[in-house]
Amino acid sequence: MKVSYHGHSVVKVETGGKTIIVDPFINGNELTDLKVNEINADYIILTHAHNDHVGDTVELAKKNDALVITNADLATYLGWQGVRTHGMNIGGAFEFDFGKVKMTQAFHGSGYATSDQQIIYGGMPAGVLLFIEGKTIYHAGDTGLFSDMKLIGELHPIDLAFLPIGDNFTMGPEDAAIAAEFLQAKKVVPIHFNTFPPIKQDPQKFIQLLKAENGQVLKPGESIKL
Ligand code: NI
Ligand code: MN
Repeated sequence: MKVSYHGHSVVKVETGGKTIIVDPFINGNELTDLKVNEINADYIILTHAHNDHVGDTVELAKKNDALVITNADLATYLGWQGVRTHGMNIGGAFEFDFGKVKMTQAFHGSGYATSDQQIIYGGMPAGVLLFIEGKTIYHAGDTGLFSDMKLIGELHPIDLAFLPIGDNFTMGPEDAAIAAEFLQAKKVVPIHFNTFPPIKQDPQKFIQLLKAENGQVLKPGESIKL
């Protein structure tokens, strides 16, 4: 399978003819190499309701008839906008035709800001474990460091982990390096940095903090074969 990074928290997985995109924040994401009208997705996975993660989901889901997988509250809200959804919640896993998705906890917020200045309750923020082709990918979503990352890594040996390093809204590089140690992932890729001024980071500094020397910076558009 091919796993690619597209700036901010956007991750795309291509497996067995299916495309899964996580947190498709495209319009307003100056780092991304993607264009909304060029994306073909069968599934969209959302870690939480913040606008820099929901992004272009409604347009993309309608255009592609993609299934949106996210927490049940956000799934309900998006369903009312005419999108096909599959609601889940933390601790739950479900087998889809491309593989299994399990939602894990994240310490963060999840309000969706509408254009008329309302904040809609967006359910609990989450991370996701993707079990595809015998490999395990962890996308932490937006979160601070928490010690149960040890449990996540123990229960589900992780081949590839995407961890936020931007600081301010999520873990910064030092905490994310501890997260990487807790998770014991074979490979770690930093996300959620340099998109906005408060999350400016040098990702190579994060890589240098990793004791296991298992880090890799992916530029938007770069991918890993798993
Ligand atoms: Ni967020
Ligand atoms: Mn975010």
